[in-house]
Formats: sequence, C-alpha cells, structure tokens
Amino acid sequence: MSLVDLRSDTVTRPTPAMRQAMAQAEVGDDVFGDDPTVNLLQEKVAAFFGKEAALFVPSGTMANQLAVSVLTEPGTQLILDEGAHILNYEGGAPAALWGVQLHPLTSENGKPKPQAVRGAIRPKNEHFAPAVALALENTHNRAGGSYWRMDEITAITQEARKLDLKLHLDGARLWNALAASKLDPKTVAAPFDTVSVCFSKGMGAPVGSVLVGSSALIEKARFTRKRLGGGMRQAGILAAAALHALEHHRKRLVEDHARAAALAHVLSSFPGVEVLPVETNIVIADLSGRKETQIDMVETLKEHGVWVVGFGENRFRCVTHLDVDDAGIEFATTVFQKVLGAAV
Ligand SMILES: Cc1ncc(COP(=O)(O)O)c(C=O)c1O
Repeated sequence: MSLVDLRSDTVTRPTPAMRQAMAQAEVGDDVFGDDPTVNLLQEKVAAFFGKEAALFVPSGTMANQLAVSVLTEPGTQLILDEGAHILNYEGGAPAALWGVQLHPLTSENGKPKPQAVRGAIRPKNEHFAPAVALALENTHNRAGGSYWRMDEITAITQEARKLDLKLHLDGARLWNALAASKLDPKTVAAPFDTVSVCFSKGMGAPVGSVLVGSSALIEKARFTRKRLGGGMRQAGILAAAALHALEHHRKRLVEDHARAAALAHVLSSFPGVEVLPVETNIVIADLSGRKETQIDMVETLKEHGVWVVGFGENRFRCVTHLDVDDAGIEFATTVFQKVLGAAV
C-alpha cells in the first residue's frame, strides 16, 4: 500500500456491486415524476424516517438549502450552531438565495443548549429580524462527528417548538449517528419538519441526497429544486446507487467508527497532539502543542502517502470510510509513527 485517503468520506468510489445496480436501474424522466427507481428511493427513505414524502437531490447542500427555503421567509432568522455546515460551507447561500439572516450560537460539541436557543429570541419589535427556524446537525462535522443523544434532541426541539420555531436537521451523516446511537430513525426524525441525508458520504454512493418532510413541504421543495436547476431526468441510475447503499452499506458504518477510534488512539499517543473525542467516523487532531504548523503537517503526511485535510488553524481531520480497510489503518499508523513519533 502506498496511499490512504482520509480527507473525507466523500472520496469513496462505487463498488462493483453498486455499479452493477446502477447499470441495471430502471429509469424514466424524473421531472415528469416517472423514474421508478427515484420514486422507490423516495418512498423508502420517507418511510424509513416516518415522514410523508421525500425528494432526491444532487447534494447535501441543495437538500439543506431547500429546507432553508421552505422553512423561512426573506428577512427572517435561522438559528444554528456556529460550526454548522449551513453557515460555514454553503457559500453564504441562506443570504445569497433566500435573504435569510443566520443567527449562530456557541456550543460544545456542535450541540447548542436549549437555553441558548431561548436566549437568541428577541422580542417582537420593529428593530429585530424574527427568528423562524432552528437547524441542528447530526453528526456534527466541525465538532468531530459528535452525535445527539435522544434526551438532548427532545430537550432542544421541545424548547424550539415553544418558541414557535420550525426545525431542520442536517443529517448528512445521520446514518453514522444512527449506527452509533442505535436510536430508531423515526423517533430521531419525528421532532423535525425536514431532515436531509446524504448518500455520497459514508454510504459510498457517487452522488445524491434526500430531503424528507411533509407532503406540503416536499412539494414546495420540488418546485424550488427545479428552479435551481436540480430537476434531473433519468436520475434512477443515481438513485439505484443510494438504494444499494441503504441495503448494503448502512450496517457496516460501525466498522468505520471502530477504525476511527483506532486512529484516534494512535494519534493521541504522540507528544503535543490532542485528539477531540471520537464518536463516529471523524478524527480531529489538534497540533497546538507541537512546533509544526498544520499546513506543513498535512503536506508531510501527503508526501508519505496519507491524505488528510487541514481543519482550522492547528488542526487536521481524518475520516474513515468504505474505501479504508484495516490495512489502510495499519499503513496510516506506520506513517503517523514516522512523522509524528519524533519529538515535538
Ligand atoms: C454536515 C454536512 N452537511 C452538508 C454537507 C453538504 O453535502 P454536499 O457536499 O453533498 O453538498 C456536508 C458535506 O460534507 C456536511 O458535512
């Protein structure tokens, strides 16, 4: 082995079995609503999360932005965690596309407290943009793959409802959260108006996300998807990959979690390296205690065949996924020992 790519779980390539499922997919024109494979995926994902309807879209970003569009009005506020993907990595879309002001909350582990949500609500007054929705992220990418416990979800969503807020869950890696928490998907999704999930991350599909919610909200989202140019035609080829992933790749996510824990164990043994608690498939190593900069470290690791990404000033991120097996972890361990084992 000469290379292991730990930059993200988005780097997976479809397996031969997934490619075969894609090649054999029955297709139709999904803008007319007659692609049977897309329809089947939408029905399955809606049922899995106990929602009325679902919409297949090209990316997690589009799923999140459709949720923002259907849950808000221009000039209103969406409350979310300061590390949220919607705030940090979606190109300013809530402002650029929907005229929505984001209201970030500080938190530990990407999980704001109910009191913080209450504190963000301003009284009705001509000075203040009204807050109309709250978005949570599960698992939380920037916080290192942390997941929400059911009591935490219940507490914050109940508080949000008391405050008349609509609720979206960015569940790009909700599959990982469910695998780690063993919670029932319907129970986790129940408090939310909309939930987005991705198939192109740990699930190993090449493309595709799904937004679930009530029939009325999904109908609105379908209109806006077309307006954004996200109406796809024979998309069943892609939906087939997602269906294959649902059946064959969901249960194996716990293997990625075990490998991430193994990497974390190795990384935390080196001088000056601090590793954030690992709950799923993301490992964030903080190098504040070392001489090398994060930029140099990422480069040196790459030269040795281990690809990771810089994640803030002093940190790098490793993500385990379908294309990293035990041999990959062993190879990465050897390289980490060579590069980080030396004195600080
Ligand atoms: C938490 C979270 N939400 C949304 C997205 C966006 O997904 P996509 O890259 O498919 O647009 C990502 C991507 O990594 C993510 O980590």
